[in-house]
This record gives sequence, structure tokens and C-alpha cells, in this order.
Amino acid sequence: MISAPAEKAKKDAGFHAANLVKDGMILGLGTGSTTYHAMVRLSARRKEEHLSIAGVPTSLQTAIRARDLGIPLTTLDDHPTIDMAIDGADQVDPILRLIKGRGAALTREKVVAEAAGRLVIVVDEGKLVTNLTGVVPVEVIPFAITPVMKRITGMGADPLIREGNAKDGPVITDNGNYILDCSFSGIVNPGELEDTITAIPGVVECGLFCNYTGKTTVIIGGEKGCRVVDGRKNQEI
Ligand code: A5P
Repeated sequence: MISAPAEKAKKDAGFHAANLVKDGMILGLGTGSTTYHAMVRLSARRKEEHLSIAGVPTSLQTAIRARDLGIPLTTLDDHPTIDMAIDGADQVDPILRLIKGRGAALTREKVVAEAAGRLVIVVDEGKLVTNLTGVVPVEVIPFAITPVMKRITGMGADPLIREGNAKDGPVITDNGNYILDCSFSGIVNPGELEDTITAIPGVVECGLFCNYTGKTTVIIGGEKGCRVVDGRKNQEI
């Protein structure tokens, strides 16, 4: 159960991100509880300011939520480049590298991050780390699960197939694949690890996001309001 101050921090971060959105923007809509707050604020801004926006959802959950909130949806087929993606993260390091994928949406989240001109990450302070560490989610096609697990074990990690909470057996992603939660005892070079994991045949994507730091803005909700860390050089927050 998340504490009331932590929930408020997430809400503040989400609202701050939604307030950066300008009329006419095509957005990436991330997945998770902090992004949801941004979507609630976007929905209110649409009504209050007649903001014209459309979002590419990164998961079925986000698509359903966006429909409930009256946020128009679009696709990467119609908009292969998008103005801004708003998304959450599980860990953020000091140079804005991320671990994502708690909600198993990492592949679509990375595709949307790649397509976005700007990536706005919304978190509470509990997500900030000195070094990325611990569990890296990896999406794998079912056909390749055993060889991929062998390869990742050989890299010194302990991969586990993610299981459902309200379903027996593995979590199946929105893309029809498995998630391997790979525990690394230490991550010395996150960028190198991301490249190594994504190069294994059968891996679809991994939850390390190390290549977007130069277009990333992180909005950190805390007890005293929001703090903004902008990885973009010489650009307006
Ligand atoms: C979804 O797969 C994840 O990458 C989420 O974006 C991430 O876990 C953050 O979620 P919360 O905002 O709910 O913590």
C-alpha cells in the first residue's frame, strides 16, 4: 500500500508533466500509476482549455484509461514521430538512465520513447538511485525462453519468468511474450548491459533505457513539490 505523501508526490509529478503539454501535440502515453495522474490532468485540460491532443498508448491498460478519460488515441502508423512522451520509471540514476518494465510494458514504452522528440519521466523521490541495480525486466518471445535464460544466467544474473497475480502461470505481455525478471548483483555499465541483452536472439527488448538521456526531462515529486532535472542542453524547461 503506497503512503499518502508518496501518492501526492506522484500526482504532483504527473500534473507538472501534463502542464508542459501544448495545444496540437501528439503524445506518447506511458504506463503505470504516475503516468495515470498526468492523463487525469490532460483530460481536465482538454475540457477546460479545449486542448487538442492525441496520444499513442504504450499498453492496453493505458488505452483503456485514455478512452475512459476522453483522451483521443492515435497510432505510430499515423504519427511515426511524436512531440513528447510522458512515462514513469522504476529507477532513475543521476545521469537520467532508467530501469522500466514493472508493468511489463517496456517494449512499447521504448518504441514510443524512441519516436518522441522529448521524453518526460514522472517519478517520486523513491525512484532515484545512485546506481541502477537489481532487477532488469526483459521481454522474450516464448519460443526462445530457455536459451535466453541460459545466456542471461551465463552473464551472472538470476532470470525468473514473471508470474501473474490473478492468473496461474506466466505473465503474457501485450505483445504475446514472456517477461524475464533478471536479478543482477551489480550493474557496472548499464549501457553496455542494455546492448548485450538486446542483442540476444529472442529478446524483444530490455528495461534498461540508457540512450535517451539527452532528450529526457525527469520530474520528481517530493514533500516540497516538484524538482525538475533536464537532460536536454540549453533548452527551456
Ligand atoms: C510499465 O511497464 C513501467 O515501465 C512503468 O512505467 C513503471 O513501472 C512506473 O510505474 P509507476 O508509475 O506505477 O511506479
